[in-house]
Amino acid sequence: MAEVSVKNLTKKFGKFTALDDVSMEFPDGGFFALLGPSGSGKTTLLRTIAGFLFADRGSIHIGDKSVDQIPVEKREIGMMFQNYALFPNMSIADNVGFGLRVRKVGSDEERRRVGEALELVQLSNLGDRKPHQLSGGQRQRVALARAIVTNPRVLLLDEPLSALDKSLRVDMQVELKRIQHEIGITTIFVTHDQEEALTLSDKIGILRDGRMIQSGPPRSVYNNPVDRFTAEFLGDANIIVESDGNGRLNVSGNQSIKIPRGAETASALAVRPESLSISATEPEQEGLYKVNGTLVQRMFAGATSTCIVQCDDHTYKMVARDQDVPILSEGENIWLSWKPEQTIVIP
Ligand SMILES: Nc1ncnc2c1ncn2[C@@H]1O[C@H](COP(=O)(O)OP(=O)(O)O)[C@@H](O)[C@H]1O
Ligand SMILES: [Mg+2]
Repeated sequence: MAEVSVKNLTKKFGKFTALDDVSMEFPDGGFFALLGPSGSGKTTLLRTIAGFLFADRGSIHIGDKSVDQIPVEKREIGMMFQNYALFPNMSIADNVGFGLRVRKVGSDEERRRVGEALELVQLSNLGDRKPHQLSGGQRQRVALARAIVTNPRVLLLDEPLSALDKSLRVDMQVELKRIQHEIGITTIFVTHDQEEALTLSDKIGILRDGRMIQSGPPRSVYNNPVDRFTAEFLGDANIIVESDGNGRLNVSGNQSIKIPRGAETASALAVRPESLSISATEPEQEGLYKVNGTLVQRMFAGATSTCIVQCDDHTYKMVARDQDVPILSEGENIWLSWKPEQTIVIP
């Protein structure tokens, strides 16, 4: 059953429509990412689910109950935002226990539950410290402990990791996923980082201009984007070319690729950089799609290398394990190839 379900939500700020008929289901215990460019309505959706904002149309259910008339504090929601503020003068334990004191749970139970929450985020021995005595990553975990200590049904996270540097962010992603898995809480995570969304979630929803343009499991959205925006937003996509409508796709000058069956009405075909192979000579294998071009640039990035290839008026990007990229000089004539089934058909 869906733990959270959002139906036909529309939210306007004056004349501006921030959410436009948004629907999405968030099944129980799942990890969901809301992804979209800045200004697409992610925060507005999260704040509407939390109850800080009220929709002009549509409804929100948590469990089997409509929460449209239910205020924030009764929605059983835990929240963490990018600019989470810890109380500077309170100890870590008191910060974490704040929501419990508001709910008047009693000091023994507060101590026990704060202890459990701090253990979960692996900060058991730091309860007596003050926020300024912790690192950025530790403070982040305190904020998370504070969000879950009240045993909410749903955890809402608004770009909680975007202030952290890359390596700390990756550590926190792993940590967040572990904690979410351990307590099995339905989690909705807002991010504008596509890699973060793909890595962490069971299901993603893509927002653009206040509309939910696609939702589904990350792999399925990545491999079957509904439009060109999603294809390009969710990772690099080499748009091969728009269809000429005659069942052929003229890649450039003298090169052509037959459109896969059933894709004759596609608006475009694309191929991901990691689906491409590069070779100095024309690949002989039957049935491969291939294009001929010039290696413009090869960039080494440790485990992988990225090649930029110019095929007449088309620029392709390909990424492969460094050892799978043959020694080639920039300016050399090369072939790119891929399997027909790796072609992304954009409706
Ligand atoms: N309180 C508000 N008043 C007017 N416009 C707002 C308000 N909050 C958000 N908006 C507008 O709604 C759009 C979506 O905002 P937001 O949900 O914060 O986007 P995101 O989180 O995806 O970056 C933006 O264009 C923003 O300027
Ligand atoms: Mg936002």
